[in-house]
Amino acid sequence: MLTLGIETSCDETAVALVEDGRLLGEKLATQIDTHALFGGVVPEIASREHLRVLPRLFRELMAEIGIRPDEIDTVAVARGPGLLGSLLVGVSFAKALCLSTGASLIGVNHLWAHLLAPGLDGEIEFPALGLLVSGGHTHTYRINSPVEFELLGRTLDDAAGEAFDKVAKLFNFPYPGGRFVDDLGREAEPDTKLFPRPYIENDSLDFSFSGLKTAVANYVAIRPELVFEKMADPDAIAALTGERRVDLARVCASFNWSVAQTLKIKVERALKRVGPTKSLIVAGGVAANSVVRETMKGVAENHGLRLTLPDLGLCTDNGAMIAFAGWQLARVGYSHSLELEAIPRGHV
Ligand code: KG4
Ligand code: ZN
Repeated sequence: MLTLGIETSCDETAVALVEDGRLLGEKLATQIDTHALFGGVVPEIASREHLRVLPRLFRELMAEIGIRPDEIDTVAVARGPGLLGSLLVGVSFAKALCLSTGASLIGVNHLWAHLLAPGLDGEIEFPALGLLVSGGHTHTYRINSPVEFELLGRTLDDAAGEAFDKVAKLFNFPYPGGRFVDDLGREAEPDTKLFPRPYIENDSLDFSFSGLKTAVANYVAIRPELVFEKMADPDAIAALTGERRVDLARVCASFNWSVAQTLKIKVERALKRVGPTKSLIVAGGVAANSVVRETMKGVAENHGLRLTLPDLGLCTDNGAMIAFAGWQLARVGYSHSLELEAIPRGHV
């Protein structure tokens, strides 16, 4: 079965083709440089860029693999969550393709697709505990099978990646700055008393990261020397030197630690609640964070779980994960009608 995956939920336009769960090829165009000029994703620009780029990526993918559009069995498209205008570009393209070729249509939950992505490289053992940590979401799930997700906890305000990006912005790092906070933090030991591990003094499985971001903002307010002039590109960060670099690295390390520990506490709490699971899946852009990866390795070891972490390239948005999740749904008989709607927010 040939499944095309289409991803346009935020600032990456991507297509990929999967044959019975095996990746045949993919194309991706990122808009990061465009949005970086504004310090965040501008929805109107994002949807116009998707519209401009998607048809070309699709044609290039077909040509590269040597497949005609009418050979595609299923068109899987990220239907949400994401930016409405951006999602609509992908959903409309998918519908038009299905209408003209007779392929069946599947709307895919972008978050589920992130969590299933590691399945492209190897087996995932179910039931699994899933932690999705991205720029827009921080969710935990009990995942009984590739098509059965039970939401356990979610963020009440900022997502983990959003907190990373907002903290990075305080330091004038380029957008999205999560990876720079990660990289610089590797140069220092964390001060575990510096920042709180937010929203843990309760029995909730939900997250709240906005207070942590505020704690860093308050700290920076009294230590203005931590804020360097605007850094237009990663080279400018590499060029930082001296005591100020060491101090900044310690703040980044402490922030990495607080986020990773908070995730750990909530995941361990969730594991206690949901009963036996075989694996722990950690996915989304923040799963690329070195401290989060290390910490989750420890959690999996302590609980005798197999840890499933996507390769770094699969952590961020891509078309392969949408095609793969769509194939999982299609193979057990799911499909959507052409009435399929984009669902920008919430649990799709
Ligand atoms: O999953 P993703 O590509 O996009 C969304 O669907 O949101 O995640 C992007 C997020 C951004 O907030 C980015 O700063 C963060 O993932 N991120 C990181 C790292 N790499 C990407 N955060 C911390 N450490 C990293 N190494
Ligand atoms: Zn994503």
